Amino acid sequence: MIKNKKGLFITLEGGDGVGKSTQLSLLSKTFSDSGFDVISTREPGPFLTSVGADIRNIVKNKDMHPETEMLLFFADRVEHVKSVIIPALNDGKIVISDRFYDSTRAYQGVNYGQENADKVELLIRHFVSDCTPDLTLYLDADPENVLNRAVEVGKFENKDFDFHIKVREAFLNIAKDYSYRVKIIDAEKTLYDVYRNIVDVVNQSCNLNLQYLSLDDVNLIVNKQS
Ligand code: TYD
Repeated sequence: MIKNKKGLFITLEGGDGVGKSTQLSLLSKTFSDSGFDVISTREPGPFLTSVGADIRNIVKNKDMHPETEMLLFFADRVEHVKSVIIPALNDGKIVISDRFYDSTRAYQGVNYGQENADKVELLIRHFVSDCTPDLTLYLDADPENVLNRAVEVGKFENKDFDFHIKVREAFLNIAKDYSYRVKIIDAEKTLYDVYRNIVDVVNQSCNLNLQYLSLDDVNLIVNKQS
């Protein structure tokens, strides 16, 4: 299934608070331990681009028209794709991104309805059709459980529960529509089980033989992050 000519492009998707960032660190270390050259990145606002942090700051903190917001996510993405992802893939690197255009499909589709959903598809076709992920890992969790967990650590102040349910439904539909590249990972299991499931899916989908990190290594990485 690998389409990108030299490197490999993997995206992690999911609702807020499902643990994408931690799993990205673990997957990245798993690749580098096997001798691969890996770049970890994220949207919105990868620090790897010169404008990413600025766009992130605007899009996350300012009120604006839905179409402005959608275009800002795309401006950020185009810069990310052209200046980071494509060059890295051409160098044969593994690129792992915390969120990519499936997040726009899910979040902006839910927020702003079908008309905007069509515009998102148009932007994908026109601006980033040369950068389809080889594999997308969708970390799925019941928002009720994630929301309860997240409230304890102070996230989600600005979003209501219904929103998270709809985002999850949208992601599950995306997983159905693009089942050839989007794989659903049960993110409600223990962190180590989720991690091993991810490695299994990557090995199977990309025809690789990555070895699991030990539980001790995983705990070290997780503790460093928190
Ligand atoms: P962030 O702090 O990066 O959260 P997370 O760790 O959950 O990724 O905030 C990103 C937010 O932006 C998140 O709520 C999802 C949203 N988002 C969109 O609405 N559209 C997009 O295209 C992207 C990439 C993110």
